[in-house]
Amino acid sequence: MNDAEFQSFIDEVTDRNDICDVISEYAHLKRVGNRFAALCPLHNDKKSPSLSVSPDKQLFHCFGCGAGGNVIHFIMAAEHLDFMDAVKLLADRAGIPVPEFKGGGSSSARSSTDKKQLIYTINKEAGRYFFKNLAGDTGGDGYLYLKNRGIKNSTIKMFGMGYAPEGWTNLIDYLKGKGFSEHEVYEAGLAKMRDNGTYYDSFYDGRIMIPIINVQGNIIGFGGRIITDKGNTGKYLNTPETLVFHKKENLFGLNFAKNDRSGTLLLMEGYMDVISLHQAGITNAVASLGTAFTEEQAKLVKRYGGKAVLCYDSDEAGKKATVRAGEILTAQNIKTRVLTVTDGKDPDEFVRKSGGDMFRVLIERAKPLFEYRIDELQKQYKIETEGADGIETSVFPDAEATVEFTEAAAALLAEIKNPVELEIYTKRVADESGVSVDSLKASVENIRFGVARAEERREQQLQRRRQAQAMSKVENVKLYNAERLLLNLMCDKPVYRLAADKGLKYDDFTVELHRKLAKAMFDMYDADGAVDLGRLLQVFDDEERRTVSGILLDDKNTQDKKAAAEQPLKIILGDRNLREQDKLLAEGNLDEVYRLMISRAAGKNKSKEN
Ligand code: GTP
Ligand code: MN
Repeated sequence: MNDAEFQSFIDEVTDRNDICDVISEYAHLKRVGNRFAALCPLHNDKKSPSLSVSPDKQLFHCFGCGAGGNVIHFIMAAEHLDFMDAVKLLADRAGIPVPEFKGGGSSSARSSTDKKQLIYTINKEAGRYFFKNLAGDTGGDGYLYLKNRGIKNSTIKMFGMGYAPEGWTNLIDYLKGKGFSEHEVYEAGLAKMRDNGTYYDSFYDGRIMIPIINVQGNIIGFGGRIITDKGNTGKYLNTPETLVFHKKENLFGLNFAKNDRSGTLLLMEGYMDVISLHQAGITNAVASLGTAFTEEQAKLVKRYGGKAVLCYDSDEAGKKATVRAGEILTAQNIKTRVLTVTDGKDPDEFVRKSGGDMFRVLIERAKPLFEYRIDELQKQYKIETEGADGIETSVFPDAEATVEFTEAAAALLAEIKNPVELEIYTKRVADESGVSVDSLKASVENIRFGVARAEERREQQLQRRRQAQAMSKVENVKLYNAERLLLNLMCDKPVYRLAADKGLKYDDFTVELHRKLAKAMFDMYDADGAVDLGRLLQVFDDEERRTVSGILLDDKNTQDKKAAAEQPLKIILGDRNLREQDKLLAEGNLDEVYRLMISRAAGKNKSKEN
């Protein structure tokens, strides 16, 4: 496929995916004049809708977070995909067959896609190699280890688990035999480079290899668990970050869990927990890839599950991680419950001993996040005491503990958005602490007011700083704004005609990015007689696109565009003439200066006569 064919494929994808339809799958769009507005799904947009979508221009821009572009750029941002994967998603959505991209073409987006494909292929080959090792002579230890942990053959197969035996170049040698270079293996994260430029296997010290597979079914990386503790290395080693492996943006097991119909994902701490649960028939378990839970992962939960159950360890670290993950999930409006594994075991141990059905009971019993957090607070402040009847109860030891608990609980309640939930938990805290519901409510309100004020102030400061920054870069604000406005209006052909007739050239724009945008527009009008804004945006990198989409969408709801263009055009041309004049004066060319002045005066008179 050549560049023209590639471009027409991209055009078809953008044509057949109306930007408003697509974005309405992520946000509630409300019509405002000639466009739609929404709370931006790309950042934590709580208060005023800052996302603007233009059905005419088929562009979006968020005046809050600055994201912007066409429908492909939206999907890239919303789904964390690269250009080609976003295009593929949209092609699928519209039922457009995706052509083969191998060979030909010069787009950098495509060469990075080729590289990704190569890494997927290398990972797949490596996975085959590791898997085969389990059966071979060197795999004996690995296989025994898995058997000792109660992993069935069918589970090994399903997860594609394998073994990387001890040795410096086992995998490298194997992959070289398959035609890959050492450097390619290195780029896949499966080899490391020494200072002298030689390579060695990333996994060289005898590890069970667990492929990490994305929802498209590609192996993006591996987790490797050591089978004999050597004391000098971590229990787990993961593939480092590569072009395709982003630990913070993937969940282990999601390739299976995405097909589970329960509408809930169980979030585990470890790979082995996930594997054990799937083996026990619980198919909605997933885990982070050895890092703390992230916002990107919460978005995956939202997309592929809807609800979450946190199944972390019940030690102090696990509790902290539970609270933090709970906050991240709540911020994405994901209903979250917390499961506690009894007897202090991890889910893997529990399910191996007690079975899947017993684990299902634990899932049933999982507490809503806020209930869990309030219970944890109580544990912190209450003490156990034996009553006169010999029955253990927990009580607050003194008034101070009661006050501290109530304050901490009020701070928690202030986070609850759902009014029904708030009511229920407020009553509970009131019951527990003996404080009246009314004074508790007053506390919650105070905290909320304080938080809102602080946020508002922060936002204002940020806004002021941004403006100051923008201004400091631009000497002439009036000219800067005129350029932006005219660029916006020139999306309309009659305005472009008017500007061209008055002699405007793209290099009359003084801001570099404006000049680049103007040149792209002028070139398109010259070549095709029209601008295609979707294509236009392809000229710009991510950073530039943020500004450009803002310019293109900020049309101030103008009706008569030609009339509106007169003023900025005058400012821009006037400034250009002054600059020319300065230049001529500097060169001492007075004749030409007079000629310019006279012709301008004549021009003015002419426009008065009209
Ligand atoms: P087992 O000990 O084999 O049962 O593994 P596990 O999956 O239960 O691991 P554990 O609960 O100890 O740790 C949870 C997760 O943290 C693991 O699955 C890894 O992703 C990560 N992890 C644990 N230890 C290490 C380590 O030494 N290095 C790195 N990078 N990650 C680790
Ligand atoms: Mn474990």
